[in-house]
Amino acid sequence: MAKRENISMSVIRRLPRYYRFLNELSSSGVTRISSGELAKRMGLTASQIRQDLNCFGGFGQQGYGYDVPKLFGEISTILGVNEGYPAVMIGAGNLGRAVSIYISGSGKPRGFRLLAMFDINPKLIGTCYNGVPVLDAGDIEEFCKENSPKAVFLCIPSEGTKHIIETLYNCGVRYFWNFSHYDIAMNYPDAIVENVHLSDSLMTLCYHITDNENVQ
Ligand code: NAI
Repeated sequence: MAKRENISMSVIRRLPRYYRFLNELSSSGVTRISSGELAKRMGLTASQIRQDLNCFGGFGQQGYGYDVPKLFGEISTILGVNEGYPAVMIGAGNLGRAVSIYISGSGKPRGFRLLAMFDINPKLIGTCYNGVPVLDAGDIEEFCKENSPKAVFLCIPSEGTKHIIETLYNCGVRYFWNFSHYDIAMNYPDAIVENVHLSDSLMTLCYHITDNENVQ
């Protein structure tokens, strides 16, 4: 498949939302929906939806609307959620284990197949969590050379992250789902990094309470 050019980040960021809504509609047996109805449910405008989907070739039919299962299939393909890209997790602590269950424990397609988790804690090394082995972080380089993971999920503290990223990058890894507070993109501008900070979202909620409830 040729690489798509000029798709804006805001369109890309809306794709998972289309996926979620269409999945729900499809699962509840809806087979057809107008762009107006889909827009209403998603809190967008019909023209916005048409513009977004036109970036990938359209998919709607004048006077018919959208075929829900078909559009869901198209969005799934665009996102690649059924690809099962090989990935590894660094850090098998509380967060790493929770994320690993999200990735491989539900049976739902998440886009990735978790090959292994890596940790430095001898008590964790050699165990298996939900079918995923926990291996020695010292063996990551050899593992990457043999298994070529596409993506890495980072669930470790910032300390130690610099060294491990360098190793992974030198092994050819370019895709990072980063829960650590280390700024990967600064040193590796060609890496694709999705930073996740639960605290940002929680603090935003906190702000709203503070703003609303403390009015004199
Ligand atoms: P945890 O202490 O339960 O687990 C951390 C694990 O990482 C431990 O098993 C430890 O042995 C391992 N580890 C440490 N350095 C390592 C290295 N260089 N290589 C491989 N493994 C290593 O902590 P938890 O709760 O799982 O959190 C992990 C990190 O994620 C923390 O630094 C925390 O700040 C961050 N975090 C980020 C969140 C976010 O939304 N971005 C939310 C929660 C935690």
